Amino acid sequence: MDFKLTEEQLMIQQAARDFAQTELLPGVIERDEHSKFPADAVKKMGELGFLGMMVDPKYGGAGLDSVSYVLAMEEIAKVDASAAVVMSVNNSLVCAGMEKYCSEEQKQKYLVPLATGEVIGAFCLSEPEAGSDATSQKTTAIDMGDHYLLNGTKNWITNGSTASTYLVIAQTDVEKGHKGINAFIVEKGWAGFEIGLKEKKMGIRGSDTHSLMFTDVKVPKENRIGEDGFGFAFAMNVLNGGRIGIASQALGIAQGAYELALKYAKERKAFKTEIINHQAVAFKLADMAVNITAARMLCMKAAAEKDNGEDISISGAMAKLFASQTAMDTTIEAVQIHGGNGYVSEYHVERMMRDAKITQIYEGTSEIQKIVISRGIAK
Ligand code: CAA
Ligand code: FAD
Repeated sequence: MDFKLTEEQLMIQQAARDFAQTELLPGVIERDEHSKFPADAVKKMGELGFLGMMVDPKYGGAGLDSVSYVLAMEEIAKVDASAAVVMSVNNSLVCAGMEKYCSEEQKQKYLVPLATGEVIGAFCLSEPEAGSDATSQKTTAIDMGDHYLLNGTKNWITNGSTASTYLVIAQTDVEKGHKGINAFIVEKGWAGFEIGLKEKKMGIRGSDTHSLMFTDVKVPKENRIGEDGFGFAFAMNVLNGGRIGIASQALGIAQGAYELALKYAKERKAFKTEIINHQAVAFKLADMAVNITAARMLCMKAAAEKDNGEDISISGAMAKLFASQTAMDTTIEAVQIHGGNGYVSEYHVERMMRDAKITQIYEGTSEIQKIVISRGIAK
């Protein structure tokens, strides 16, 4: 692999770094404390092209590669993991899924405003009884001729209340199991579509997570994505790419916590010396540096394979599995290095520790990544 970044990739990385420092850092503690969605920053992210990074410019996107996306995600997540998940869902689940699998009409109508950041999207697979076990969909979409009638509940939906366009996975033929599942484009405001209360979360508190309720929602036939029965394959293939986004989010959280811990260890004195001179502290930093470098390599490898059109089911899962563990380990030790200061909000690392945990849960738990990897390598 060629690890040298191109001029363009370096430029994107710098632009994301500058944006995170100027637009996300101020207020990040307050937004976490009050569970406040970063609305202004998300609007600006759209204007800068960060919400449709990999989408072809003919659909309003920035036309960049997945490596650039990883670089930008890392910079955003380093400062604000909540803004990063909004970006990840819009880019690698919603826009990527639509660009690859939607019809030209669907793209013109729905993808263009999503890629430009005029509106944001949500990806709705999980249900109260179908999280890891995603084929057990209880939400139904009954074929009524010119439309489907959608009924059921989706859980834990990121951008749940702030999105305008929702990709909803539903069972259309129970007899056919996962081959009887379809994916639909649903608009906010359609009769029978209700948004539940916002979840009170441990971390990524700036992102809005809601359950969604559908009662006899009429979904026009032309809003089905792909051929009849394509919905589960759609979800799985989209998630393969999405996992690179969450891996990069985890990488950013880890890098952010590491940088803060390193700085603190060089400044804070105990026993007449900077604490970095105590080997127990220095070794924690060494472990962090090794794991973060390895996580970054896995993210880059998966992104490069995606750009080459290769199957990324294994490499995406590996990147997510390792980077999320790294985020967790690094943030826990970053808090430890900060001592008592690590336990209060103004030093950032306690928030990063809370934010890190979700990366081991959503877009497939770590246990599910191991299932994907082990089944893949057994093939
Ligand atoms: N890529 C492509 N296809 C895949 C796949 C993958 N990674 N994993 C499974 N499939 C296909 C299989 O090939 C099979 O298709 P065929 O029958 O046509 O061969 C079909 O899917 C069913 O596969 P399995 O028999 O392996 O199904 P299973 O029930 O044993 O479980 C699973 C599969 C991998 C566990 C899957 O259910 C899964 O990924 N679960 C996790 C769900 C998840 O990641 N949810 C995330 C929600 S979105 C989100 O979380 C967003 C956010 O937070 C921000
Ligand atoms: P379960 O599936 O009930 O799992 C419980 C535990 O059992 C886990 O540790 C799991 O790893 C383990 N387990 C389950 N099956 C196995 C197995 N076969 N082998 C070994 N261990 C197993 N979903 C969306 O569709 N869209 C979103 O935008 C979205 N955003 C989210 C945002 C947040 C903040 C959260 C918390 C969740 C979000 N999710 C979203 C849902 C998320 O993808 C699920 O929570 C996740 O897939 C796990 O499902 P579950 O919660 O039902 O846990």
